[in-house]
Amino acid sequence: MDRLVSPDRLNDEDSSLRPKYLKDYIGQTKVKEMIDIYIKAAKKRDEPIDHTLLYGPPGLGKTTLAQIIANEMGVDITVTSGPAIEKTGDLAGILTQLKPGEVLFIDEIHRLPRYVEEMLYSAMEDYSLDIVVGKEQTSRTIRVDLVPFTLIGATTRYGDLSSPLRDRFGVVERLDYYTVEDLKNIVIRTAKIYDCKIDYEASVELARRSRGTPRIANRLFRRIRDFASIIGDGDITLDITKKALDKLDINPDGLDFRDIKYLKGIVENFKGGPVGIDAIASTIGEEASTIEDVYEPYLLQEGYIQRTPRGRIATEKTYKLLNVSYGGLL
Ligand SMILES: Nc1ncnc2c1ncn2[C@@H]1O[C@H](COP(=O)(O)OP(=O)(O)OP(=O)(O)O)[C@@H](O)[C@H]1O
Ligand SMILES: [Mg+2]
Repeated sequence: MDRLVSPDRLNDEDSSLRPKYLKDYIGQTKVKEMIDIYIKAAKKRDEPIDHTLLYGPPGLGKTTLAQIIANEMGVDITVTSGPAIEKTGDLAGILTQLKPGEVLFIDEIHRLPRYVEEMLYSAMEDYSLDIVVGKEQTSRTIRVDLVPFTLIGATTRYGDLSSPLRDRFGVVERLDYYTVEDLKNIVIRTAKIYDCKIDYEASVELARRSRGTPRIANRLFRRIRDFASIIGDGDITLDITKKALDKLDINPDGLDFRDIKYLKGIVENFKGGPVGIDAIASTIGEEASTIEDVYEPYLLQEGYIQRTPRGRIATEKTYKLLNVSYGGLL
């Protein structure tokens, strides 16, 4: 079963919910302010906006923001992803087809093959490509000029980016988990788009249980809407929201059974830690990378765990949640 509170895309995304302009993009005030200035300045100079790197946990609105930047600049956007560009020829093909000022969006840019990444350097720096033609002895390099363009890269793993690539972005912005207040406004906006009534308290409850992530809020919204149409009259009340989320096994803080399994693993199998990522991964039967990218960022931010050089440690908050006295298993 797909995990409802997974921040990852589960092919249930609804593009009608995607804000198209900066004014409709809720939250991330700091990032929005900066991007707004860069867009206005670029327009004033009649130049493309600087290459922009957006990073942060999945589902927070990186792709949405990239599309907004293109919309605000009034240019087309070409969307691709790191793993989709296998050969330098693929990248050359994409770059040579861009029109002046257009945006090339590369999602999961940390997964670009190395040799493709290296080709990107000169493209970003002076809008040119060095292409090797011919075989072995007869091979030579030809230089191809590109039109000015904007590269927008998105990644959930800033640390996996090589520093030469990082350094070539003029703008680097980090998206953070949304506050309950912002998520509540996103939920209210979603309800409007779906023409569905939701009580104020219900929108706050849903916001609280969405792990700071708009994608999760929107997904849970659709599930609750189903409940409301079956056990109620279609309107979303606080009571229905609570019942639905409890049935979906999402606890009052937005954690599900897999988070609990992970936290229990640390407390019960490793006396609360410190425990290394590989040890905890094999204990609960999950990939280490999934744990690092999907479970831990939110658990860290909410203070359920701490990361130390010697491994993960469960905090007092986790002991309370699991109903184990702090130090009780020592
Ligand atoms: N600021 C926002 N205001 C309103 N809705 C938002 C906002 N940010 C994101 N969303 C909603 O959340 C969904 C997920 O956002 P998006 O696909 O842009 O995330 P992402 O950061 O690119 O995720 P991934 O890392 O998985 O690619 C969007 O379809 C949109 O409906
Ligand atoms: Mg995305």
